[in-house]
Parts: sequence; structure tokens; C-alpha cells
Amino acid sequence: MTGQDRRHESEPMTTPAHVAIIMDGNGRWAKARGLPRLAGHRAGVEALRQTVRAAADLGISWLTVYAFSSENWSRPKSEVSDLMGLLRLFIRRDLAELHQNGVRVRTIGDRTGLQPDIAALLNEAETLTAGNSAINLVIAFNYGGRDEIARAVRKIAGQVLAGETELDQITPESVAMALDTSDIPDPDLVIRTSGEQRLSNFLLWQAAYSELIFMSCYWPDFSKGHLVEALEQFAARERRFGGLVARGAAS
Ligand code: FPP
Repeated sequence: MTGQDRRHESEPMTTPAHVAIIMDGNGRWAKARGLPRLAGHRAGVEALRQTVRAAADLGISWLTVYAFSSENWSRPKSEVSDLMGLLRLFIRRDLAELHQNGVRVRTIGDRTGLQPDIAALLNEAETLTAGNSAINLVIAFNYGGRDEIARAVRKIAGQVLAGETELDQITPESVAMALDTSDIPDPDLVIRTSGEQRLSNFLLWQAAYSELIFMSCYWPDFSKGHLVEALEQFAARERRFGGLVARGAAS
């Protein structure tokens, strides 16, 4: 019996409202098959498509994926251009279907560093799907946690200089409101594939109390079964948020 079957028999399982994923291992997946890295990224897009469907099926409300980090610009020019091309393709080919399936697309990251056509596509995806509510897909693109925090600090410093706020009004809540994720709940669960065990500048502020699950499979091999397995591990964890009393994993 698979984890998925068990879940149907013994509802309700504690489902996280927000799952964030570091989709790692595309390059190694391709190398293991003697293929170019681009083939790994293409297979990664297919795994992303399936994961959005699986997450919606499993009742996850928010899915955030790390698609391009602020540090990914340091990759060879050709790979950067391949990743930009894949994002263009993903939005152009999949947007209508995502919209039809009730997916609300959001993006986080620094828009100012992006080519105008990419920024326009991201805008289009957000605008078209703004009224949807089946699942929120948050694409982290040109995103880095430190960069996001630095931009938030700049914003708040500007407000202080303009006399719109005072130093003692700066609190964790007001900082959170200045982040790209101001209206997005913190992730309950962060999953990273490929066996690496680090956050790599992903959601540094927001993941303060997230459960972290590291899976050995490469991202292109990630399936609904892996997601179910991660949800089962999550449900078995006790979350204390710095206190002594355990709260149910998804509370
Ligand atoms: C990590 O694999 C993955 C990335 C840097 C990008 C993730 C991108 C995708 C899944 C496809 C693009 C999706 C969209 C929507 C544009 P890696 O290249 O670091 O793998 P490696 O560590 O094995 O080399």
C-alpha cells in the first residue's frame, strides 16, 4: 500500500498549508544519463508541472518553487539563457492550463534585474490568474533571501528618512511586511531534492520555523509519491515555534 492510499483511508492527515521546494539536481540527473544540462532542466520543468497538480490534489494551498536564484547569474551564459528560455516557454505554454485549473501564479524576487519580456510575462501570469483560488504557485525567480532582506531594509530606511515611520516602529512584523512575501504565509515545510542539505539563500526570513526535509532523488525524478512521503514525515513532526508545547505539525 502506498502512502497515498493510506492517506485516503485515514483522513485527515496534517497537511501543510505552504510547501516550498528547492528543485535541485537537474544537472546531475542529466549527467547520469550522458545528456546536456539543458535536458535536465527540461525534465525539471516537467517535474514541476506534475508537482503543481499533485500539490493541488493533496490540498496544499501554497507551493513555492526556487526556479532561478540571484546567484544563478554566475552560471555560464548559455545555461542562464537556457533557464530564461525555459521560463518563457513554461509561462507561454502552461499559463492557459494553469489558469483553467484554478492556479493563482505569484512571483517573488527582484524584477528590476530581468529582461523586459520576462518581467512582462511574469506580470501577465499574475494578472490573468489573480482571481484563482485552487492553489497558489509562487515562482521564486531572480530571488535570493539576502537580496530580498536588503531590499526590504532599503524600503524601510527610505520610509524612516521620509518621516513616514520611526525607528522604534521597526518590528519583525513590519520587516515581514516589507518583504516580497508580505501577503504570503511562511512555509510550513521546505523540501530540497538531490541530497544537498542547505537552504542556499532560499526564504531565509520566512523559513525560520519551517520543517526541513531533504530527499535524495534528483528533481526531475520527483513525483507525487515523493511529495506524499514528505507530507507523511512532516505530519510526524512536532513543531514548537521556540516554545515548549508541541503544536500539530500544520498549526
Ligand atoms: C537546480 O539544478 C535547478 C535550478 C538551478 C533551476 C531549477 C529550474 C527548473 C526546475 C526548471 C526551470 C523552471 C522554470 C519555471 C524556469 P542544478 O542545475 O543546480 O543541478 P545540479 O546541482 O545537479 O548541477
